Amino acid sequence: MREILVTSALPYANGYIHLGHLVEYIQTDIWARAMKAQGHQVTYVCADDAHGTAIMLKAEANGVTPEEQIASVKASHEADFAKFLINFDNYHSTHSEENKHFSELIYRRLNDAGHISTKDVEQLFDPEKQLFLADRFVKGTCPECAAADQYGDNCEVCGTTYDATDLKDPHSTLSDATPILKTSKHYFFNLPEFEQFLKDWTRSDNRLQTSVANKLQEWFEAGLATWDISRDAPYFGFQIPDTPSDEPDKYFYVWLDAPVGYMASFKNLCDKRAGTDEALDFDRYWMQENEHKTEVYHFIGKDIVYFHALFWPAMLAGSEFRTPTGVFAHGFLMVNGEKMSKSRGTFIKAETYADHLHPEYLRYYFASKLSDKVEDINLDLEDFMQKVNSDLVGKVVNIASRSAGFLVKKYDGMLSEICVESELLEDITKTGDEIAAAYENREFSRAMRLIMQCADKANEYIDAKKPWSLAKQEGTEQEVQDVCSVAINIFRQLMVYLAPVLPELTNNAKEFLNLDDLSFASRNEWLLGHKINKFKPLMQRIEEKDVAAMVEASKESLAQAAAPVASKAVAKKDNKPAKEAGTDIDAETNTEQADYIGIEDFAKVEMKVAHVLACNHVEGADKLLQFTLDVGEDKPRNVFSGIRKFYEPEQLLDKKVICVTNLAPRKMKFGVSEGMVLSTGNPKTQLTVVTLPDNCVIGDVLA
Ligand code: 2FM
Ligand code: ZN
Repeated sequence: MREILVTSALPYANGYIHLGHLVEYIQTDIWARAMKAQGHQVTYVCADDAHGTAIMLKAEANGVTPEEQIASVKASHEADFAKFLINFDNYHSTHSEENKHFSELIYRRLNDAGHISTKDVEQLFDPEKQLFLADRFVKGTCPECAAADQYGDNCEVCGTTYDATDLKDPHSTLSDATPILKTSKHYFFNLPEFEQFLKDWTRSDNRLQTSVANKLQEWFEAGLATWDISRDAPYFGFQIPDTPSDEPDKYFYVWLDAPVGYMASFKNLCDKRAGTDEALDFDRYWMQENEHKTEVYHFIGKDIVYFHALFWPAMLAGSEFRTPTGVFAHGFLMVNGEKMSKSRGTFIKAETYADHLHPEYLRYYFASKLSDKVEDINLDLEDFMQKVNSDLVGKVVNIASRSAGFLVKKYDGMLSEICVESELLEDITKTGDEIAAAYENREFSRAMRLIMQCADKANEYIDAKKPWSLAKQEGTEQEVQDVCSVAINIFRQLMVYLAPVLPELTNNAKEFLNLDDLSFASRNEWLLGHKINKFKPLMQRIEEKDVAAMVEASKESLAQAAAPVASKAVAKKDNKPAKEAGTDIDAETNTEQADYIGIEDFAKVEMKVAHVLACNHVEGADKLLQFTLDVGEDKPRNVFSGIRKFYEPEQLLDKKVICVTNLAPRKMKFGVSEGMVLSTGNPKTQLTVVTLPDNCVIGDVLA
């Protein structure tokens, strides 16, 4: 029996759980249940991530104390998780005694080993709110392209990344005050000291998915930087111990104590279970010397790989704790092929979903989409409906509903003493090994495919035997019982296979099948001469009107939609930390903006076919290329575009591109930009200029 501790990322205590979050909790829960069903001892813990500026400000906005704020959010998170059958063994909070203890212990050990240093940092400070401003709380004019109203970390117009202190005319988004520059001492974790350890760690023992290991390679090449782990008061968190008493209070940055929350929640569980049959030994899971006796796995979103595959193992190794056995990242959730959107009603709260639809539908749909890859998954609502109705209701439940009636009515629920199709049943029992392996390898979509193939075989068998016709004939009593018994046996196997995904349905099926075990091993014993109970419908079809009602209930007005929410596993513009190798990674907040414009707004944008007459570097601007474009007017236009790092000028020369021609001219340091060249992609990673076929006519309007 393996001893496994598994975690999901800790949701922030300032927002509700939505379907984006649920990808991860459902994925982890299915995995934990599948591993338990295979006979391992699995402990699944989680907690609320309760610290940080965002939570402090949210409490202030709600007129409550941070403690009140995090208590009420925790209760709502736990209620949502329960609805979706997420079976945590423990759900705790990072604002806890255990977390304080381990955060301080880890910090002290790192400090004693010389892995902490201090440095003065100059930062923008809000003189009204009296706090230092994280990048997301400062806006101003882009130092590169002069676009107004840009955040303190990067410009959404030209894609330049910069320091908040470089912004022109900065203002605090909290008070509107003009920030001042202020210096204070910060504490740093010396990550570069762990470079060799991390290079080895990330590449050995299959700890990480290949694409994640490759991404880390890029980060190693870019160079690791020391990590700023302190924040000045006011801050909601734990005070850093042993700092000089004549200096202002320093707090651990929320991301320092967040992963420690995994340990803290586990410790809290160990204490709760002490002296019981289920007692757990904390040291066995976390002491360095026990690293090979037990396994620890973290399931996370792809946006927080940096914290889990670099900072966290380095913190653990540097403080003499064991490191995780594996870190498994998943992609983001799209709905109907697009980023979740409040105005379209596809930014769906867990609670709203559960008001309209059964959570097991979603568990199954996510399972049918999830693999071991870091790929985004798409919840296509039409496909969701069809798949659940056809697979679960049409194929799986149908097997029982087609055969149970005969057995209960005519044979008092007794199954035959022998199996007349042992080859078929053996085949399906054997497929269970592949299904178990697929679960363990997190290839849930493969597991679901294999299960549906088994269901198809059962239905083909029933269709061929037609028990309903047989039942009308004379002298076929035994055959009817035999056929239905085969069907019920296959149904039982399917219940074993689906139990990790559909715990409630399979639990109800257990009653109907008169069984008390659905572990993987139980399927090897076929049900012969076994009595079943009356069949009750196990799942209803999804009705289109319920999906529509859920979407409708999720639609928010544009004003509401612009309000910030906690972020997790929602498609973001960019999956990298704001400054990967930098010192101030602020993944605490994310704002989902409303995204509808009227057709009349769209019609205002004039786009024309443009011919690139010249394309050049711009001296002194390492982000820009300068275009001379023929857009069919008397004279060519001059346009700057922030694509320098993706193209050599000659690659674009003579191409037909799309130019937005009625954009107000923008005065830049290097000249006036008279339009915009359209590209696709992500300004931070790759932009591709949209080019048109040669036969497009210069100056034609795109419509
Ligand atoms: O990204 C987030 O939502 C964080 N609250 C995740 C923390 S996971 C762990 F490190 F605590
Ligand atoms: Zn800019």
